[in-house]
Amino acid sequence: MTTRVITNIGELTTNNPAFGDETAMGRLWDAALVVNDEEVLWVGATRDAPEADEKIDADGCAVIPGFVDSHTHLVFAGERSDEFEARMAGTPYNGGGIRRTVAATRAASSDELRRVTTKRCDELRAGGVTTLEIKTGYDLTVAGESRLIDLAGEFSDEVTFLGAHLVPEEFAHDRASYVDLVKGPMLDACSQAKWIDVFCDAGAFDVDESRAILEVGRAAGMGLRVHGNQLGNTGGVALAVSFDAASVDHCNFLSASDVEALASSTTVATMLPGADFSTRAAYSSARRLLDAGVVVALATDCNPGTSYVTSMAFCIAIAVRDMHLSVDEALWAATAGGAAALRRDDVGGLAIGGRADLVILDAPRAAHLAYRPGASLVRQVMRST
Ligand code: NIG
Ligand code: FE
Repeated sequence: MTTRVITNIGELTTNNPAFGDETAMGRLWDAALVVNDEEVLWVGATRDAPEADEKIDADGCAVIPGFVDSHTHLVFAGERSDEFEARMAGTPYNGGGIRRTVAATRAASSDELRRVTTKRCDELRAGGVTTLEIKTGYDLTVAGESRLIDLAGEFSDEVTFLGAHLVPEEFAHDRASYVDLVKGPMLDACSQAKWIDVFCDAGAFDVDESRAILEVGRAAGMGLRVHGNQLGNTGGVALAVSFDAASVDHCNFLSASDVEALASSTTVATMLPGADFSTRAAYSSARRLLDAGVVVALATDCNPGTSYVTSMAFCIAIAVRDMHLSVDEALWAATAGGAAALRRDDVGGLAIGGRADLVILDAPRAAHLAYRPGASLVRQVMRST
């Protein structure tokens, strides 16, 4: 297997306290890294770097672990820029637009969905994402959700069944039957997914409905995730913690007891700054969560309604500028935080014997990700096979 040595790394972030400055960022300067196609073999100073089959001169640029995007809705047809324009003119967001994407997705061929998903996936990867989660939720029929599970599985192992995204039009007057469908035949058809998620919020599913769906998902052996407290104090965070869900995402509305519950749990709070940006919502209180000791992740939430965002760097810039995270906190949240939200310890950092998923930036320090918003700062992405 070919070995590669990357030398002259101006600033190397490993997220591994065993290395370098022994902080959570595990940072080294004038560093080098040896990898093969599967794993990291060596980390140290450039002057001590061993020989390898290939040599890459990083030329003083920074290297970071690949981003772990733990929340996307990549498989959908159509777009909803008109809703974005209306929101910018003052129309508030409610989840209703999801039904438009459901109609477009149901009508699209699998080839068309594959084509548009490939394009979005390529955009994420070009921006440095090396692990991504993908949710279903834009079909909401048994056969259709199962088709989306299969399509998502062509792009990632981190597939999430989100039949509980919204009650579809045809069940508008019979919510209970839709919840039964999700818990029964739809879940049966989708149970190969690693995760199950519920949009537990105003206008979507209430706490009792969400609990019933999560219980069945858990019994089927799926990992649990929750969209919670985006639109109000709707109980999603407490529900997620009560289930020891891997992550609760959005968290725009938080009571003191929500923050306490998260802090004493293993549930990660995932911030989605693209959604707050695109809905002109107040940014989630990531600072408050971090100060309370909660593990925070950053994700793109790439979806056509509230966050048609494929740039993790953009999310980092907002997290620093408007959520008051330090650059290091934001970088950690977009890498190790995302890994924690997916309960993975093999991604989100660089360790000897761990995956060699990394990004060589076109910048001397990772801080440029927030300092130079909008610039394309990825020089090379490496991803283990
Ligand atoms: O994460 N909140 C639920 N789902 C998406 C929005 C989906 C849509 O509007 O199409 C989100 O923001
Ligand atoms: Fe989402």
